[in-house]
Amino acid sequence: MISQKSIQEVLGLAQVQDIIEDYVSLKRRGVNMLGLCPFHDEKTPSFTVSPSKNIFKCFGCGKGGGPVQFLMEHNSVSFPEAIRLLAGRYNLTLEEDSKEDSEKYAEQRKLEESYFIINDFALEYYQNNLRNTQDGKLIGLSYFKERGYIDATIEKFQLGYALSESKALTEKAIKKQFKPEYLEELGLTSKKGYDFFRSRVMFPIHSIAGKVIGFAGRTLSTDKSQPKYINSPETPIYNKRKVLYGMHLAKNSIRKKDFCLIVEGYTDVISLVQNGVENVAASSGTSLTQEQVRLIKRYTDNITFLFDGDAAGVKAALRGLDIVLENGMNVSIVSLPEGEDPDSYIQSVGNARFEEYIKSSAKDFIFFKMDLLLSEAADDPIQKSKLIKDIIGSVAKLRDPIKRSLYVQRCSERLQIDEAILVKEVNKQIRKEIKQKDLEKVRLERQKQRADNSAPGAPPPSDVPFPNEPYPFSGEAEMPTNYHELDHYPEEQISHEQPTYKKIKHEYQEKDLARIVILSGDEMLDIEEEQMSVAEFVFVNTNALFQYFDNALYQRIIEDAFKYVESEQEQGTLTNYFVNHSDEVIAKFTVDSMSSPYEFASWNNIGVYLNQKMPDQNFTDDSMQSVLRFKQKKTTLIKEDIKKRIAQESDESKKELLILAFMKVQEQLKEVSDKLGNVIL
Ligand code: CTP
Ligand code: MN
Repeated sequence: MISQKSIQEVLGLAQVQDIIEDYVSLKRRGVNMLGLCPFHDEKTPSFTVSPSKNIFKCFGCGKGGGPVQFLMEHNSVSFPEAIRLLAGRYNLTLEEDSKEDSEKYAEQRKLEESYFIINDFALEYYQNNLRNTQDGKLIGLSYFKERGYIDATIEKFQLGYALSESKALTEKAIKKQFKPEYLEELGLTSKKGYDFFRSRVMFPIHSIAGKVIGFAGRTLSTDKSQPKYINSPETPIYNKRKVLYGMHLAKNSIRKKDFCLIVEGYTDVISLVQNGVENVAASSGTSLTQEQVRLIKRYTDNITFLFDGDAAGVKAALRGLDIVLENGMNVSIVSLPEGEDPDSYIQSVGNARFEEYIKSSAKDFIFFKMDLLLSEAADDPIQKSKLIKDIIGSVAKLRDPIKRSLYVQRCSERLQIDEAILVKEVNKQIRKEIKQKDLEKVRLERQKQRADNSAPGAPPPSDVPFPNEPYPFSGEAEMPTNYHELDHYPEEQISHEQPTYKKIKHEYQEKDLARIVILSGDEMLDIEEEQMSVAEFVFVNTNALFQYFDNALYQRIIEDAFKYVESEQEQGTLTNYFVNHSDEVIAKFTVDSMSSPYEFASWNNIGVYLNQKMPDQNFTDDSMQSVLRFKQKKTTLIKEDIKKRIAQESDESKKELLILAFMKVQEQLKEVSDKLGNVIL
């Protein structure tokens, strides 16, 4: 935690103009500065910075705020992270609330700073070799030229050359007083004191902010025993899971074009960028990690993977893509013509035809996978059932229920399987995954608690079964909606920009569900010949719509109740757990729910008094009804939203999809309403 004093100090010092000029070029216009807005695509500048008021405002897209808001928005960082960035920029030492923390943090920063300085030295060294040494020019530079790289590209990617001498870099670095152990940790020098990179062309790897965090060196020899690329090891500044090659140059273009191209190789990125395709980054030959996907998600929800035409690895690569679906991204696949990779293809056809090709041959990931597997399975029933399982797995990963049902519909057509069966299978899979994930979480929490408790001097174990973790939002909605913005849960008001209170319009049904799980979450229901607790029933039925919750508090209660019943607590009852909840807001809500009969929904008659047990039949009907009411409400809102978007959409193919979605939602709504009708009357 950064101390309040430090935050104020940073806020007092930070100049909006300084910060923005790191990213946007500004021209003076009277007392203000003017530039092209980094948050939306524009040709005439409407992005205004007022140094005297210390704010920015875009008159095109409406974004505005101070230096902190700019960094939060532009770099997609949290409030504390933005404060840290600002402190770094103004050389302020932040006071941490705990002295230990702040010392540790300062030490870490110092070490990282040294690493960056050494990497910068190495960068300059390799670049200089390429330009000014005989080998560099004859071997390295001529190789790059042969590949078609122009000088500006070599500059842009800061390419270099590592000489063949065994200690060229190491000796130079030692002379400059750099610590040998740092050189070794950064992977520039081997344990025995030799240069790690030798006789290789060098590709520096940059952080999202453009700092050099590591290197890749490509051999030019055809000797097969030599690895083609060698890379810097992981260090405190280079976490391979978090980095995408070229992202520091691509981010603005990705935001503007609203999609990100993913290629495999360094050289693919470089060629594409040189040819004017800038929204591209490389996964460096492996499948994307969760962290990389989140990095992309800061800028766009749309990913397009470019695969080589003859890549045997396409199928393996496809398996790794479920992680992208899980993050709520729209994924398309482009496979290049036989024998081409992105690098060779753009060099042969040029920018316009390349972009046209991507546009026209991009295939939705799930359908791509389905077609590919179908063509292989042919009439083999075993293969086909494997394929169906695979597809169901992918569809179940989609978080957006509307999208899911659209896919189910199309898959049922193509696979010629009854839609209802697919729906059932997908739902089964989702339930399985939810349970697995949750049980895993509970297990980890338990483990942590046990570890904490056994530490000497640890506080006595709390009687609350779950630590009071910050509330995890279930990610952003895939369907941008006007209404779904979550009301902020009190504990989370760290950001100064967020309103502390917003009028809640649609939370009635959520509140009702929260009450039901508090009051009778541990009661058992008979659902499809299976015993299920009310808490689980409510959870599995609302989970898919979590992103549409208006009040995070109720969502958390539903999650907590589910966790509680899943963990099979023996002591106390569920209600008791909520009454004594470590989160005051939840505890208070529980007490209110138990003691104010008048706030209950008028259309049900739950036993409302503290000591009065509900008749068995009632909680069954009540939970069913409440779930249906909730679904009805949210689906209606989603429907209205889609309708609005159809009216605004100009792209015909997108419009068509929206119309399909609209029909689907309408169908679901009807289904829910029918059921409700039956239950009510
Ligand atoms: N790669 C690696 N180590 C290897 C081979 C490949 O790290 N031994 C990674 C690199 O990130 C590389 C990517 O996988 O960029 C794709 O491999 P490849 O297509 O072989 O390399 P290119 O970068 O396309 O190199 P080139 O075009 O020069 O063959
Ligand atoms: Mn290549």
